[in-house]
Amino acid sequence: MCGIVAYTGPRDAVPILTEGLARLEYRGYDSAGIAVVGRSEDLRVRKTEGRVAELTASLPARFKGSTGIGHTRWATHGEPSDENAHPHVAGGVAVVHNGIIENADELRAKLEADGVVLTSETDSEVLPHLIARSSAEELEDAVREALSQIVGTYGIAVVDTRHPGVLVVARNGSPVVIGIGEKEMFAASDVAALVRYTRQVVHLDDGELATLRADGFRTSTLDARATSKEPSVIETEEAAYDAEGYTHFMRKEIHEQPAAVERALRGRLDGRFHTAHLGGLDLDPREARAIRRVKILGCGSAYYAGQVGAQLIEELARIPADAEPASEFRYRNPVVEADTLYIAVSQSGETYDTLAAVQELRRKGGRVLGVVNAVGSAIGRECDGGVYLHAGPEIAVASTKAWTSTAVVFALLALHLGRIHDLSPADGRRIADGLRALPGQIEEILRQEDRIAALAGDLARYRSMLFVGRVRGWPVAREGAQKLKEVSYVHAEAYPASELKHGPLALVNPDLPTVAIVPDDELLDKNRSTLGEIRARQGRVVTIGHRGPGEDAIVVPKSEPELDAILLTIPLQLLAYHAAVALGHDVDKPRNLAKSVTVD
Ligand code: AGP
Repeated sequence: MCGIVAYTGPRDAVPILTEGLARLEYRGYDSAGIAVVGRSEDLRVRKTEGRVAELTASLPARFKGSTGIGHTRWATHGEPSDENAHPHVAGGVAVVHNGIIENADELRAKLEADGVVLTSETDSEVLPHLIARSSAEELEDAVREALSQIVGTYGIAVVDTRHPGVLVVARNGSPVVIGIGEKEMFAASDVAALVRYTRQVVHLDDGELATLRADGFRTSTLDARATSKEPSVIETEEAAYDAEGYTHFMRKEIHEQPAAVERALRGRLDGRFHTAHLGGLDLDPREARAIRRVKILGCGSAYYAGQVGAQLIEELARIPADAEPASEFRYRNPVVEADTLYIAVSQSGETYDTLAAVQELRRKGGRVLGVVNAVGSAIGRECDGGVYLHAGPEIAVASTKAWTSTAVVFALLALHLGRIHDLSPADGRRIADGLRALPGQIEEILRQEDRIAALAGDLARYRSMLFVGRVRGWPVAREGAQKLKEVSYVHAEAYPASELKHGPLALVNPDLPTVAIVPDDELLDKNRSTLGEIRARQGRVVTIGHRGPGEDAIVVPKSEPELDAILLTIPLQLLAYHAAVALGHDVDKPRNLAKSVTVD
């Protein structure tokens, strides 16, 4: 998704902007550009369709300035092209914009009727024109005036040659973070672009603007009321944003899972009462006992991890629980109940659909907890409480370690709720021990990578694959199919194994392999007969379970049955990764996808 980076201070802004844009490449983009206010207070702009490296290489040595903005664009309005790339310019004003301006057509028509010549097809281009036409003395007021005419979402950064040394940024639905340096200021849509320069950050809230000068910043609302913001400290090391010797971030993040799970568990298991403590929950035992239902919301993989969570909560705490795509929930005028606990799941904490679902819930008086990875993100701040994953930054578009850490956090929550309800101390201890064993067991699976890679290389020749699983295996099958689709572009469909006979069995033939999730649980016999039905129709079956041997069997260590989904998913991540590598795809930046979907 689009990225923003901005700088004002004594240094040359250009290398800071291009380096920052390179840090945002992982979010996905198709064009890039920068604008700086030069020493003679002139505006220098360079933008191009293609990669940040091409933009950087195209900059002449004299292209310098101490205040500037940069952007990576992911096309929404108008195809990827040099003209549609940001920054957009009107006179001495340059703007970069993330988000979507819904009334752009109307605003474009008005501007054109006034004789303004628009040179791009984008919604964003109206912004610099509206700002340049303002007669306000301060840039901040001109931006405020322009934004008052906008319907839609935005994160923006603005420079104006009439105000050298000044940067204005604003947020409504699209993240903006201010970075505080020593006599210099930064801004970006993602801390990844700032972490090299500063650890002190301030997250803007929706409806907030900020004016940045080298010596400080001030924030205010759209209706000009001053706000006060406490800086927070980025805990993550800069190295966490590097591939550190791995060929791809996705592989690095798959291998980081033992450590990520340890961090998710750290300090949260109580060996005395065989329960879990989750500091941010803000839910006393009486409130916890009053919960009659749990509804988990998230998008894509976060939703599938939420489905694992719902099963865990229902199994361990015996509270009815289900998961639903946040993207659907927000549009269906849901019934919101006071005794339902709503939980929003998001790695980035910025997914617009999930944020909108949280806002809708809060508007209706629902209580919402967040299970979020990115500290300080919009969803984390919007919720009534919640739990951070502490998985560290996830750069690859395909979620791996955040998925696993989410499932682990749900296991902790289910244990916590279970022990408040009717889960016995013995079962509490069994689950806690099972959780403690996970990091070592994940290591064991990772040691099978070469075998899984060989199998993936072989499977990559098929055009389509089926993933099946029953009950605990069903969200695992969905996540496995999702991973394969995302990075290898092999068509993959996930079905509950129990549904096979009700339709998809018609597809089975020697050219459609099935990946079956078959844990050694009470449903093993049922699963075996489903696999028999597939094999009887000459379908190839690859099993992920607890039993081998066999060329097409991947065996994972046995966990507690309730925790099986966590370990069974790891081989599927490796399978997808190595299939994508075998097919020569750009694993970390799959086509058409972005890391966080911050638009409607
Ligand atoms: C996961 O591999 C996907 N890239 C995608 O489904 C993702 O999980 C989804 O967009 C939600 O993102 P979030 O966790 O940042 O909210």
